[in-house]
Amino acid sequence: MSNLVEVKDLVKKYRGASPRDGDQVAVKGVSFAIRQGEIFGLLGPNGAGKTTTISMLACLLTPTSGTAMVSGLDLVKQSDQVKQHIGLVPQDLALYPTLSARDNLIFFGRIYGLRGKALHARVNWTLELVGLADRAKDAIQTYSGGMKRRINIAAGLLHKPDILFLDEPTVGVDPQSRNHIFENVERLNREGLTILYTTHYMEEAERLCHRVAIIDQGQIIALDTPKALTESISGGMIHLGIVDGKADALVEQARRLQTIEEIRRVDGKLEIQTHHAQQALIGVLEIANQLDAKVTSLEVFEPNLETVFLRLTGKRLRD
Ligand SMILES: Nc1ncnc2c1ncn2[C@@H]1O[C@H](COP(=O)(O)OP(=O)(O)OP(=O)(O)O)[C@@H](O)[C@H]1O
Ligand SMILES: [Mg+2]
Repeated sequence: MSNLVEVKDLVKKYRGASPRDGDQVAVKGVSFAIRQGEIFGLLGPNGAGKTTTISMLACLLTPTSGTAMVSGLDLVKQSDQVKQHIGLVPQDLALYPTLSARDNLIFFGRIYGLRGKALHARVNWTLELVGLADRAKDAIQTYSGGMKRRINIAAGLLHKPDILFLDEPTVGVDPQSRNHIFENVERLNREGLTILYTTHYMEEAERLCHRVAIIDQGQIIALDTPKALTESISGGMIHLGIVDGKADALVEQARRLQTIEEIRRVDGKLEIQTHHAQQALIGVLEIANQLDAKVTSLEVFEPNLETVFLRLTGKRLRD
């Protein structure tokens, strides 16, 4: 499979507001490739650098250093051509509220150089795709947040891009529009479109993406299929709060359980890495019971992308 996007050591520094403020390094040298025909996910928490990365790939921001090729074209040197090959659906909606959905799409289509019958055919096709053909005449200001998002997706598809960049497309979206967006993403991909999908919802990355790069503080900390990433952390985690006096005894005994890989004491809690979360849970609670140790809190994290993130960073994806 050939690569449609190749990113190497991409860096973005934002200048501080005043000379006294240091530069903010939002993206700290990321490298990855997106294969033709795949849905590639960028999964990371608030401020991880997802929008900054996508904005560089969409030629809205100039990289501070590093290189990127899109459809064989250099992002910086050939940005006018690159723009023809990419469709961007930004995190912040960009639509004219008083214009109808159709007129918005006609406006954006003209920016892409579409005219006449070709423009109208394309507008109709995208309206059908996002399921809003029957509302096309209504002003955008009468739409729900989710419907606006779907029209924004339509706008990104008008010029038949090779790759669609979707920046957190389901944030603030009702469940019905959310499902619609998932189905659109899957259908477009089946029909051959390559997609870069950013999200901080691990369920979405797991469901939609063929491969996922986990990004935190401007760096990619893991990149693989959701399955391989999940399998990389054998068996889930347990966070257990118990009254202080019994913690040492519990740690000592629990270390002997075969299902437990590692136990650490962090902020008065026990962080337990397991080979099998459910089996370990039974063992740990039995020991707590024997020691007559009072359990004050308990959280079990089955292996999934959230747990991978937790394991790699010590933080939750969402607060
Ligand atoms: N225009 C800007 N000027 C200065 N700093 C910025 C600017 N835009 C973003 N940043 C900073 O760069 C870092 C990365 O921001 P970015 O918007 O790329 O993150 P994100 O992963 O998209 O987050 P979110 O999930 O909240 O959308 C953050 O620390 C942010 O505060
Ligand atoms: Mg963002």
